[in-house]
Amino acid sequence: MTEQNNNLGWLNLTSLAMPVKVLFTGYLMAIGVGLMMAGLQIMLTHGMADGKFGLSVDDIVYSYYGNRSNSKLEAKLNGSMKDKAPPAERLEIIKWVHNGATKEEWDAKIHGIMQKHCAMCHAHTPTLPNVAKYDEAKKLAEVDHGASISQLTRVSHIHLFGISFIFMFVGFIFSFAVGFKWWVKVALIFTPFAFLVIDIASWWLTKLNPGFAWFTIIGGLAYTAASTVMILTSLWQMWITPWKKGKVSCNAWSGECDKA
Ligand code: HEC
Repeated sequence: MTEQNNNLGWLNLTSLAMPVKVLFTGYLMAIGVGLMMAGLQIMLTHGMADGKFGLSVDDIVYSYYGNRSNSKLEAKLNGSMKDKAPPAERLEIIKWVHNGATKEEWDAKIHGIMQKHCAMCHAHTPTLPNVAKYDEAKKLAEVDHGASISQLTRVSHIHLFGISFIFMFVGFIFSFAVGFKWWVKVALIFTPFAFLVIDIASWWLTKLNPGFAWFTIIGGLAYTAASTVMILTSLWQMWITPWKKGKVSCNAWSGECDKA
């Protein structure tokens, strides 16, 4: 009786009971798809910040530090919005920006131009600022200081709370893996948390100094890589290993399953 209770040889990914495997698999699948969506979203928002597709250090600098020699409106009119209005009207908008974005000039000329050339997209897309409204256009005409402190605090705490939960359960599932040197397992489980903190700290630091933008990219790549390894290994050991080589009998939490 006691012998049976003490036998925890089933406590590893290859030998878990089917309901637990299904539970873990469902979670890992949803998280995997979620990570890909997050990557796509980063490409579509920050990835376009410098007007070119694909995430670069410039994108991070534009997003967090801003483009302090320029306004966003002018930068876009020279970048990805360049072909949206005829050159003469584009120039009118840029002159308006340089002249201090006054209400008089807006009413006289600029509102009409925005209405004619920009509103068809900007007035109806929730993720885009409505440049046909004076208040929003004026804000975009000011010098671009990047993300505001209130934006940063909001996004930071949501990311820290939300993403830690993801890493918690991905790491928890992976802690039942077999065949890893103990320190490799420890490093893989800890890496995402460490780089999450580095990643988020780098947003704030980039706001102060654009040189820190590299840490945002390094942090993101490091935690994506570590969680991808953990997710794929866990799925493999739950389904492929038992099928190819049979279940392993050892207690993963006692270190029995680790490679020496
Ligand atoms: C065909 C649709 C379309 C038209 C027309 C259009 N835009 Fe845009 N605009 C977009 C999209 C999509 C983005 C987001 C991607 C990007 O930043 O390039 C955007 C982004 C912007 C941004 C950056 C907003 C931000 O907060 O990052 C500004 C400023 C802007 N547009 C100004 C204009 C102006 C001024 C016009 C008219 C001359 C105009 N756009 C016409 C689709 C359009």
